Amino acid sequence: MTIPFNKPYLTGKEAHYLYQAVSSGKISGNGMFTKKCHDFFEEKYGFKRVLLTTSCTDALEMAAILLDIKEGDEVIMPSYTFVSTANAFVLRGATIIFADSGSENPNLDATKIEALITPKTKAIVPVHYAGIACDMDAIMDIAHRHNLLVVEDAAQAIDSFYKGRPLGSIGHMAAFSFHETKNIISGEGGMLVINDERFIRRAEIIWEKGTNRAEFFRGEVNKYGWVDIGSSFLPAETTAAFLFAQLESIEDIQQKRKKSWNLYYEQLSPLVAQGHIELPHIPTYATNNAHMFYLLCKTPLDREKLIAMLKSNGILAVFHYLSLHKSQYYTPKYKGSELQMSDYYSDCLVRLPMYYELEEEHISHICKLITSFYQTK
Ligand SMILES: Cc1ncc(COP(=O)(O)O)c(C=O)c1O
Repeated sequence: MTIPFNKPYLTGKEAHYLYQAVSSGKISGNGMFTKKCHDFFEEKYGFKRVLLTTSCTDALEMAAILLDIKEGDEVIMPSYTFVSTANAFVLRGATIIFADSGSENPNLDATKIEALITPKTKAIVPVHYAGIACDMDAIMDIAHRHNLLVVEDAAQAIDSFYKGRPLGSIGHMAAFSFHETKNIISGEGGMLVINDERFIRRAEIIWEKGTNRAEFFRGEVNKYGWVDIGSSFLPAETTAAFLFAQLESIEDIQQKRKKSWNLYYEQLSPLVAQGHIELPHIPTYATNNAHMFYLLCKTPLDREKLIAMLKSNGILAVFHYLSLHKSQYYTPKYKGSELQMSDYYSDCLVRLPMYYELEEEHISHICKLITSFYQTK
């Protein structure tokens, strides 16, 4: 049996909507399907304003422009994250201040943030790792007291909640990903959510290459031109059409993934009781959107052997981020302290296959292999 790490799922409606988009005669951005997706997100999750982007990376870059990040500004974020979380702000000249992850899960440890704030700090970027919420009340409280802006990196966090509030609706802005590895996909794709009304008008302008074209198409101005900096952040209608097909099946997709996640959790729990591994901890304030199933090995060597054993059985399990403060690019610039928890997740976390079409028998097979790996050690 060969089991890939990820397999993009097609709901069956994608080709139909793509055909509709193409035959409508308008396949560049900001058309009918883009609007359908925007309406879906604004209605379902109460986001104030949504703009589809070509990736989450682009949504983060838009956020950095909107925050007016300048040379020397400091931005606090976890080191255990994807490179785009940091790059978006580095591109505007920011210095990244990496905070450690918590002991319960790889999310930013909110208790470590305040000590990192200086007069140069401009923003905090919490990353909801594996779609599990960061402690947003604590983070928003720190931000309000220090007059900082918060951008949620919600790349993995679609349809997940913090104390009943959708992730992406709490910070001043949020960025989501629809890359083919996510729960809801469009190949490449993303979205910027703007919850603070002060930023909405400028966001539309940055989105449309620094022009007020969106206002022109709404009939609010009689010509459009260059009014600010910006870039081509909007996706083609073909991407939006694909995405809309996925959104119509979001309940089904989420239900299936959660079922798989729970099966993994049940079948691997005995190994936790036996002291071999750790499983994800979901705080009481958070929901689980089943974006990812990970386990934590006791040592890097243990992880290497486990991944190799699975690979020799045709199963692709993978580790995840390498701490950014230890990356080739950032190490020479890094002036902070050791980030023990971040390094622990870099060294010991393994992600198991997780995708819509993963069957119960696949999960049982993987869990049996992992169980016998530890029991014959
Ligand atoms: C936390 C995080 N932020 C940002 C991104 C970038 O997303 P995209 O590939 O849509 O640009 C990723 C990618 O997986 C991610 O995991």
